[in-house]
Amino acid sequence: MIAQVKEQFHKLFGKEPIIVSSPGRINLIGEHTDYNEGFVLPAAIDKKIIYAIALNGTDTCNAYALFNHEKVSFSLKNIQPAQGWINYLLGVVHELQQLGHAVKGFDCVITGDIPIGAGMSSSAAVEGGLAVGLDHLLHLGLTRMQMAKIGQLAEHHFPGVKCGIMDQFANLHGKKDRVMLLDCRSLEFQYFPFEFSKDYKIVLVNSMVHHSLASSEYNVRRAQCEEGVKILQQFYPGIHSLRDVTPAQVEQHKDKLPAKVYDRCLYVTQENERVQLACAHLQKNELKEAGKLMYASHDGLSKLYEVSCMELDFLADLAKEREEVAGARMMGGGFGGCTINLVKQDQVEGFVSFVQSRYKERFGQIPDVYVTSIEDGTTVKER
Ligand code: GLA
Repeated sequence: MIAQVKEQFHKLFGKEPIIVSSPGRINLIGEHTDYNEGFVLPAAIDKKIIYAIALNGTDTCNAYALFNHEKVSFSLKNIQPAQGWINYLLGVVHELQQLGHAVKGFDCVITGDIPIGAGMSSSAAVEGGLAVGLDHLLHLGLTRMQMAKIGQLAEHHFPGVKCGIMDQFANLHGKKDRVMLLDCRSLEFQYFPFEFSKDYKIVLVNSMVHHSLASSEYNVRRAQCEEGVKILQQFYPGIHSLRDVTPAQVEQHKDKLPAKVYDRCLYVTQENERVQLACAHLQKNELKEAGKLMYASHDGLSKLYEVSCMELDFLADLAKEREEVAGARMMGGGFGGCTINLVKQDQVEGFVSFVQSRYKERFGQIPDVYVTSIEDGTTVKER
């Protein structure tokens, strides 16, 4: 991919770019907890977006996407939301400008192998790649966390998804063979070695359902959580988010919460507990126990948070039938995309053919499968 973007860049712009490699992410557990100031356990992976990028000495930005051969240009003087992948570039430039950084015109070619709409956060990779590229070229001296926040705000203000910080955080802080426990309130985080990588593989199974509902329903879920917090504040004035609430407290005030709001709050408070428990198990090498929590997470996402779909439920159920799978669940925002499965290394092949044939039988389509590895976050490569 690097050779391809370089070649196209030379053809279009006739100069030498820098190369930025910006990964997608997985999340072991802790879904829809980030915007509730809770905990997540993500990692950056070997699927990525690649940029070739250089300044061009003008006030115009030119971008070419190899995946659809689309070329777009925009002026730095008038940044407005637009449709498609370009929106993420516009968003990042806008947020940098809002922070008072003098962005300069640039040329870029972009390509990648993160499947779009599959829950691996291709959008955070597009944002993080550009933020790191511009930080490097313009010597902005931004920290990784500042760039993560820029990506998050770009997402809020341009595509309009009120996302949490997990995806942009993971994209920018990933470390080879490490998962990260992030406290989405303090933004403190810890790297954990993913000790199981010798014996287990992280296998993503794509339901092939494109999560088009995701952005509108995502914002609805966020609003329902906030509504829950407002109601619960009548009983617990000190709470600021669902992070401060226990499942028992949610249950205690069930009659005061609208039914859906109750379900959402119960899920989030339980999921926060599950992340912490999962970490404790992982530290003690108890992968099966952590895996059980992944299944429970899926169950909650499906029944209480209602962000799954029948295809994802089917895939999670298939995984449960298999001895070689330690745990599985839907991953990311939901309404489609992938399940994440921890599968015994020497039995990946059998698992994949089992899942593909059963899924085809049921839905008439063979799901794509990605056996991933945990890699570093966004990096500037040598020329
Ligand atoms: C999307 C968002 C994240 C997070 C997940 C769900 O990926 O971008 O911030 O909320 O959904 O955990």
